[in-house]
Amino acid sequence: MDETQAGVPDTVETIVTSLKHKPGALLPILHGIQDHLGYIPDDAIPVIARALRITAADVHGVVSFYHYFRSEQPGRHVVELCRAEACQARGARALEAHAKARLGVDYGQTTTDRSITLKPVYCLGNCATGPSVRVGEHIKGRMDPARFDRLVDDLTTYKLELN
Ligand code: FES
Repeated sequence: MDETQAGVPDTVETIVTSLKHKPGALLPILHGIQDHLGYIPDDAIPVIARALRITAADVHGVVSFYHYFRSEQPGRHVVELCRAEACQARGARALEAHAKARLGVDYGQTTTDRSITLKPVYCLGNCATGPSVRVGEHIKGRMDPARFDRLVDDLTTYKLELN
């Protein structure tokens, strides 16, 4: 367990305790945990199940049903590539192949340095200027391999500020 994971059990317990009495508490609890931790740790499943008096399989089923929920800790940045039609018509498939090769990962995986998790997404509402990519809250259009490489460089380069 690294330093960032040290408070995971306490965080899960706090969220479960504060939300377990709400009607339909499972989804709010899962959202709360992912909002705080970035994913749903395996250790959280039995804690949630016990609090809601349901089985661990029930909790796991919901986590795996919704693509939004992650079971593994993501990289420092989540890069989502649009795979929907309009972006495909503008070169998204070539971009996708380039991105996977550049990062050395497939969809759903994280680079070995844990800097970037690559995910597919299906339309970001930015079709006119595709291929589109989302990094966190930011949507970037007209993405091509060269721009993607610059984006990765920006995300993985630590800038030193000299005063
Ligand atoms: S199809 Fe890619 S943003 Fe809409």
